[in-house]
Parts: sequence; C-alpha cells; structure tokens
Amino acid sequence: MSGAPWRDIVAGGYDRVADDYARLEDGTQWPRMRWLAEVLDRLPPGSRVLDLGCGNGLPATAAIAAAHDATGVDVSAEQIARARANVPTAELAVADLADLDYPAGSFDAVVAFYTIDHLPRELHATLLARIRRWLSDGGLLLFCTEPDDNPGVVGDWLGTPMYFSSHPAEVTRRLVTDAGFEIHRGSVEQQLEGGRPVDWLWILARTAG
Ligand SMILES: C[S@@+](CC[C@H](N)C(=O)[O-])C[C@H]1O[C@@H](n2cnc3c(N)ncnc32)[C@H](O)[C@@H]1O
Repeated sequence: MSGAPWRDIVAGGYDRVADDYARLEDGTQWPRMRWLAEVLDRLPPGSRVLDLGCGNGLPATAAIAAAHDATGVDVSAEQIARARANVPTAELAVADLADLDYPAGSFDAVVAFYTIDHLPRELHATLLARIRRWLSDGGLLLFCTEPDDNPGVVGDWLGTPMYFSSHPAEVTRRLVTDAGFEIHRGSVEQQLEGGRPVDWLWILARTAG
C-alpha cells in the first residue's frame, strides 16, 4: 500500500514492530478489555462489530469474534496476516481508515484501540462522521486516543519511525458530539508501555437522536 507519507510510515512501522508491540502489554494490564466489556455487555449475540486498527487481533478482535460478527481492518499487512491466524472467524482486510467506507447502518458497534492517533488530526472529524453513518441507530462507539495537542509528528516507536497526531481531550470530545454522538463515559487513564506511563483519553459514546 502506498500514498500519503504518514500512511507508509505507519503501515511499514507496524509491519516491523509486530513482535515488539505484541509483547508491550506483558506484565501490565491495559484498560482496553475493561472498556471493551462495556460495549460487549450492551450488545445482543451476533451483533456486527467493526475493529478499526485491529492489529494482530489479540486480544480485542478475538473477544469480539467469540460472540459477534467481527470485522477488522488495519493498514499493516503484517498485522492483518497475524490477525487472520489469530482470529480466523473475523472478516479482515488491509485498509486505511482514511479511505474506508461502508454502507449506512452496517455496524452495531465500532471500536478503535490506540489507532486514531496515527491518523492526521485534520481527518479525525471526517472519520467520526463516517463512523456515525456506518452505525445503526443506537450504535456504540468506543475508542481511545492520546489527549495531547499534537499537530502531527514522526517520532521513534519501538525503534522504528512512527507518525502520531492528536487533539487535546476537550477538542476530541467536541468532535465526537459534533459528529452526532452522545458521550456516555469519557476519561483519561494512564497505562504502562515498556515501563513508561502513557495517558489515553477513552470515550464510550452512542449515536444521538
Ligand atoms: C497501537 S496498534 C493497536 C492495535 C490493537 N488495536 C490493540 O488494541 O493492540 C495501532 C494499530 O492501528 C493500525 N493503524 C494505524 N493507522 C491506521 C490507519 N490509518 N488505517 C488502518 N489501520 C491503522 C496500525 O497498523 C496498528 O496495527
């Protein structure tokens, strides 16, 4: 896949760091599965759930696929190859969030763990509006993103160049409500990544109206 420079940096980066990223949570407990349980508890079995930036499918896509119709997309071919092995029942594709589109009402929930901050922040509002359209009425959105004012930077990530971009937390919250969601819960939580504390803004929302 080629195109925007940030896309090639992210796709190539996650191809290369696949082993190191898979080990990053070892010995710690990131809040992702606790937040995901809040979504899964609200869905009837067989619901349609989209996991954006699903990585190797572990642990989130696998937990979704255990009870639901799981779709996962990731810009990294290596991550999707691993997800196909780890979660054979999920529908998986190599794709860029920036290009993705589905018919209206395709999903009952959309989740994105540690992913949206790899997309230029100018694209976040458009992505949220598209997610709103892909969701059924009352559909759920769960994602986390870094809460920092970062217009876009290439930094080191597990020894490889990686692109990051994010809005301050209050701006991300506003984008979510502007896109047509009601925020049920939102909070900044810290997790350890290779011993380093990192803050993430978590948002659980439902389509409004
Ligand atoms: C930090 S990893 C998170 C993986 C998984 N969601 C998890 O919870 O561990 C970020 C993932 O998002 C993917 N990603 C980043 N930008 C993307 C984009 N524009 N389109 C699709 N996937 C993207 C990366 O390839 C990577 O697998």
